[in-house]
Parts: sequence; C-alpha cells; structure tokens
Amino acid sequence: MPRNGQTPTSVPSCAPVPSLLGIETSCDETAAAVFSLQGQLLSNLVASQHEVHGRFGGVVPELASRKHVEKIEEVTQAALEQARVRWPDLRAIAVTQGPGLAGALVVGVSFGKALAYALGVPCIGVHHLEGHIASAWLEHPDFATPCIVLVVSGGHTHLYLVPQRGEYRLLGKTLDDAAGEAFDKGAKMLGLSYPGGPALDRLAQTGDPSVVRFPRPYLNKGGFNFSFSGLKTSLLYYLRRQSLQTSSSPAHVASGYQEAIVDVLVEKSFRAVRRYGVDGLAVVGGVSANSRLRTVLQARAEKEGIRLALPRMHFCTDNAAMVAAAGWWAYQEQRWASWDLDAQPGLAIGATMPASPPPNLP
Ligand code: KG4
Ligand code: ZN
Repeated sequence: MPRNGQTPTSVPSCAPVPSLLGIETSCDETAAAVFSLQGQLLSNLVASQHEVHGRFGGVVPELASRKHVEKIEEVTQAALEQARVRWPDLRAIAVTQGPGLAGALVVGVSFGKALAYALGVPCIGVHHLEGHIASAWLEHPDFATPCIVLVVSGGHTHLYLVPQRGEYRLLGKTLDDAAGEAFDKGAKMLGLSYPGGPALDRLAQTGDPSVVRFPRPYLNKGGFNFSFSGLKTSLLYYLRRQSLQTSSSPAHVASGYQEAIVDVLVEKSFRAVRRYGVDGLAVVGGVSANSRLRTVLQARAEKEGIRLALPRMHFCTDNAAMVAAAGWWAYQEQRWASWDLDAQPGLAIGATMPASPPPNLP
C-alpha cells in the first residue's frame, strides 16, 4: 500500500469538494495527492520503489517505468479515497512534465492527460523543481519573497534568487555531481545500501565530523556554483589509503564527508542571502531531509536573523503534494497545458506552459 505522507483533513462524506489532483512519476516514487481548490492538502500518497531498485544499488529506469504503470492507478484511487473526493469533483490534473527519467515521466503524463480528457478538465504540466520549490510554501504559506531558494536533490543543486513566486533567477548550480549524488556515491563507497543519502545520514549521526576532514570544494571560488565530484574522489583515495593503515570508524568518515557537503551548501546559501540583501532562505529537495543540514541551517538562520523555510521530511523527497501545490498556483493563473503536453526529461525551469486559454475539452 502507498505510504501516507499527510493526515488528511476530514471532509464531510457527501459534500462535493472541488479539487485538483497532483501526479508525480519523475523518478522512483509513484505519487498522487489531492488539493482542494481552496488550497488545502487533502491527501498525499507515495508508493516507493526503493525495494525494487535496492537490489541494483540505484534506480533502473526501465524498472521504474514498469512499476509506475503497475501502481499509478492504485495510488491515485487511494489518494482520492483518502481525500474523500470523487472523480467528478476533480477540476484539474497537475502532472510532473520534467525533468526526470523519460520513461517514468511518460507514465505520469499519459495517465494525467488521459484522466483530464476523460473528466473534461484541464491538464497542467509542472516542472519538478518548481514542485520542490512549492513544497516550501506548502509548509509556510506566508513565506515572503524576495528570498533565496536552494534546491538540493538527486539530480540538482541549484541556487536561485526568487524575487516573487514563480520567478527564478539562477545564481549558481553544480558543475558536475548534484549534492544528492555526492551522498549516494559516497554511501556506495562506504558499503551502505540504497538509497544512500538517508543511510549515510544515519551512520554519520553516530560519528564525529572533526575526526576525518575532507576538502570543501568550490567554497571560495566559482561564485555561487558548486562542485562535488572532487569530494567523491577524496573519499575514494581516503578509503584506499585507509585500507593500508589503521582504520578510522566508518561513522567518523561518513560524518566528515557529510560535513564537507553541508558546509559548502550552507555557506553559499547564506552568502547569497547577504549578497542579495534578502532575509529569507528556503531549502528544498531530497537532500533537505538531511538531519545535519537541517540542524546547521536552523542554527545559522537563528544566529543571523534569517527566516528559514524547511519543508517537513515527507515534503522534502519526491511527493505529489508539491506537484499539486505548484499545479494549484498554475490553476489560479489559468496556465493549462495543451493536449500535446509531453514528457520533457531535460525541461528548463520557467519553460512549462505559459498562461493560455482553456484547451478544447471533450
Ligand atoms: O528530491 P528527491 O527525492 O529526488 C530527486 O528529485 O532527485 O532527492 C533524492 C536525493 C537522493 O540523492 C537521496 O539520497 C537524497 O535526496 N536524500 C538524502 C537524504 N534523504 C534523501 N541525502 C542526504 N540525507 C538524507 N537524509
Ligand atoms: Zn525531486
């Protein structure tokens, strides 16, 4: 059964609740969420494929697509039931259009479009990162702009200045591996099981970050860009050397490695806050679930008097509540997709459908 990410708000069983459905299938989570048109999250379900991919030590795209096909109807049905919303109550379908795995995205987009067409409602294409960014507002609806947003996930490490909601100015991004990739690859080298990020986080909690010190890549160069592939190589060399000498505890190594990633992410984010004279920082995406990152961000924000928006854990990693939330904003602005909406694995932020008249509905 899908994992329940949110206690649903109770809704009288017979009252129709005009709602919007959010669908997310960009990687290895099949997720569906229902949002009332009043902007209230009514249900949020995720069917994780971790067990399927765990055996292979990483996501196998072909298997991900097949699992989405198998699960999407069940997860959607369960999300509606939990929200106590019926099919005719749906007024729009929001679906992740990209970026992500092509075959995985196609499942969600095809399902979403077919559903929208059958129900006679508009379909909305959501950019996956805009979904993650929306998760900050899901938790803090009044979070004021301008602010800085750091998106840290398995595929992205992007720092944005957000002058107002929906407007993203890219300040910097990773030049090679994403922060989540650095966690996952580091975890693999340490012999931890997939998914590596959370496993490394747990191991690091029992270690001391000052015992083994790793370099802080790009801390004082590259402007607001990041680079993590050199750090991964440092870990590789450290582990090779270590096998020849007396070994440090894996927990200390994990903790030292994690600290290097966290230090760079935090330092560059707060530098951006100062440089652009804003007083708000939102950190979103799977890596924002990292316990050490959250602790350091919270302490630093408090010390510097900065407003910090950190989504709760189940809104950090991939979910459909964030897609529904981003879709709900698009719905308010009537940004519908046309029926040729397609999966776009390399979709750029800001390139989802522009404001458009309602499509021809059946
Ligand atoms: O946002 P997300 O669920 O999917 C993508 O859009 O990529 O992010 C997944 C990434 C993975 O690399 C995963 O290892 C990492 O987020 N992650 C973590 C933690 N939880 C998830 N990394 C470090 N510590 C965690 N607790
Ligand atoms: Zn994601």
